[in-house]
Amino acid sequence: MIYAANFKTNQTRKSTRQYIEELNVKLCTKDVRDKIYIFPPFTALDNYEGNFTIGAQNAYPVHNGAFTGEIGVEQLDEFGIKTILIGHSERREYMAETQEKVAQKCAFFQAQGFEIIYCIGEPLSIREKGFEPVMEYLLAQFEGIDIHYDKLVVAYEPIWAIGTGRSATAEEISATHSALKKVINDTPLLYGGSVKPANIKEITSIAGVDGVLVGSASLDADSFSQMVLS
Ligand code: 13P
Repeated sequence: MIYAANFKTNQTRKSTRQYIEELNVKLCTKDVRDKIYIFPPFTALDNYEGNFTIGAQNAYPVHNGAFTGEIGVEQLDEFGIKTILIGHSERREYMAETQEKVAQKCAFFQAQGFEIIYCIGEPLSIREKGFEPVMEYLLAQFEGIDIHYDKLVVAYEPIWAIGTGRSATAEEISATHSALKKVINDTPLLYGGSVKPANIKEITSIAGVDGVLVGSASLDADSFSQMVLS
């Protein structure tokens, strides 16, 4: 299983360090076959010790240069970061990242050998139209993406389930994941959207779910470690 914590615009450098110390204590008995990722905000990126991978929530697809307010590969290299989240619905929506931009970003970081957690997900208006429109919408988010890249992980995050406390149902996750798996085959597929200690077991036991991408419930080290240890 893959357990990924996306802090979004939460935590500081100080609280991230404390979080990681706490996580290391709680997870010292954990089977290392599981893979844990932590995506802190940029200001908290560092070389942390532990049985997890630190990734960047975003970066600009350059080595360095004149791109005010952005960071590139040079800044990530300083902390040995080779993992990046791309295509999160919050970036698509609030930062106006189009499919074309997202695909360019994936191609650039793929060429740099990065592990990419690539996010897809539909809004409620599409989910309400039924399963076929959902799949059409999701498959369009694979446009320009090398879905067979060996360091790609796909995260299915229905937008209406993000931060709402209302996860997709087991049936919705199961149907969507099995349809996505027919396209991406062996590429790992995570579910994200209101995953929490209370529903982690149900979600990770669904066929086609290879792990979870967690926002709110990952902010507390105790809650995140409960999920990892579930
Ligand atoms: P929540 O777990 O807060 O719903 O967020 C999910 C998410 O967007 C993770 O990337």
